[in-house]
Amino acid sequence: MNFDLTEDQVAIRDAVRELCRGEFAPAAAQWDRDDAIPPSAIARLAEMGLLGMNIPEEWGGLGYDTRTVTLVIEEIARVSAALAIMVSVHNSVGAYPIYAFGTDEQRRRYLPRLTSGSVGAFSLSEPGSGSDASALTTVARRDGDHYLLSGEKNWVTNGRHVWTFLVLARTGGPGPKGISAFIVEKDQPGLTLGKSEDKMGLRGSDTVTLAFDGARVPVSQRLGAENEGFKLALTSLDAGRIGVAAQALGVMTAAFHEAARYAQQRRAWGAPIAKLQAIQFKLAEMERRVQAARLLIAKASWLKDTGQDFIRAASMAKLYATEAATWVTHQAVQVHGGYGFVKEYAVERYYRDARVMEIYEGTSEIQRLVIARSLLRDGVRL
Ligand code: CAA
Repeated sequence: MNFDLTEDQVAIRDAVRELCRGEFAPAAAQWDRDDAIPPSAIARLAEMGLLGMNIPEEWGGLGYDTRTVTLVIEEIARVSAALAIMVSVHNSVGAYPIYAFGTDEQRRRYLPRLTSGSVGAFSLSEPGSGSDASALTTVARRDGDHYLLSGEKNWVTNGRHVWTFLVLARTGGPGPKGISAFIVEKDQPGLTLGKSEDKMGLRGSDTVTLAFDGARVPVSQRLGAENEGFKLALTSLDAGRIGVAAQALGVMTAAFHEAARYAQQRRAWGAPIAKLQAIQFKLAEMERRVQAARLLIAKASWLKDTGQDFIRAASMAKLYATEAATWVTHQAVQVHGGYGFVKEYAVERYYRDARVMEIYEGTSEIQRLVIARSLLRDGVRL
C-alpha cells in the first residue's frame, strides 16, 4: 500500500481546498446559524463535478477512486461538516448505487442529472427500525407494472434539496430477504416530505421524514432484483461509511488546528498556554488520533480501490474516526476554555457537528458488530 498521494490527487485536493477556503469558509458559520445551506453552494460543487465524483466519466462523472473522494470530503468537512455530509451521502448512497446496480436505462435516466446538479438521497431508516434496519415495515405491494409504496421513513439526509430518493421497502416476507430498493423522484404523487429535523449539529444539512401513501412507483424504478435490496443497501453503506470517516477526519483536523492556534496565542501565567504540559498532552493526543484516522481511511480506500473486501476496514475507519472526532472536538473546546462554549469560536460548531457521526450510517455499536462478525467469520489470525 502506497501512502503517497498522486500528482492528480494533490491537484484535486488543492483545488477543492481553495474553493472551500475562499467561498465556503466565510459563510459556514452563517449556514449553521440559519440552518440552511444555499442552493448556490451545491451548484458550485456541481460545477466542479463533485456531485459525480465516483461515477465513471462515460456516465457523466469524474471517475475518482475512493481515496480521492475521501480527500475531497475531508477538505469540505474542514470548513463545513454539514456540506460535507450532503456531498458524501449524495455520492456514495444517493447516486453511485444507481450506477453500480442500475440498468442502462436507469443510468441514462438518472445519472446525467445526478452528476450535474440534482441531488440524491438514501432512505432506509424508519421511526420503528434503525440499527435493526431489516425490520423495516414500509411496504411496496406489486400492482401490475407498478408498486404501491406505503409507510414512513426518517433521518433522510439532503431532504428538500433532493431529486431522487433511494428507498428501501418490503416486497416479501419478514427479515432482510424480503426488501427491495426503489428510485423515487421527489415529485412522485403519494410521497410527502415531512418536517425538517431541528438538529443539535450539522445545521444546514436538511434531514427530513418521508410519508408514502400508496405512491405508484413503476417497476422500471426498482433498483436491482426484487427482494435483494437489503444487501444492495448495506453494500452502498459500506462505501458511505468511508465517506463519513473522511467527514469526521475533516472536522477533527479543523478542531485540532484551531486548538493549536489558540494555545499559541492565549496567555496564562505569563506565557502562551501551549507551554503548559497539560495543553501539550492534549495537542499530542489530538494529532495522534488525526493521523491514525487518516491511515485507517487510506487503508479502507485502498482495499476498495483494489477490489478487495473492505467491509471490516470501512467499519474500522468509520468507528475510529468518528469516535476520535468526538474526542478531538471535545478537547478543542476544553483548550479554548469558556471561549470554546460560545458561537464566536468555530470549535463550538465542530463539537456539535461531530456528535452525530457516531450515530448515522451505522452507530459505533453497529460498526463493532460488523467488525466482530467479520473477524469471527474469517478467523482471528494470532
Ligand atoms: N455489507 C454488505 N453486506 C452485508 C453487510 C455489509 N456491511 N452486513 C450484512 N450484509 C449482508 C449479509 O451477508 C446477508 O447477506 P447473505 O444472506 O447473502 O449472506 C444480508 O446482508 C443480511 O445480513 P444479516 O442477516 O446480517 O442482517 P441483519 O438484519 O442481522 O442486519 C446489520 C445486520 C449489520 C445489523 C445491519 O442491519 C446494519 O448494518 N444496520 C445498520 C443500518 C444503518 O447503517 N443504518 C443507517 C442508515 S443511513 C442514515 O443514517 C441516514 C442517511 O441519510 C444516510
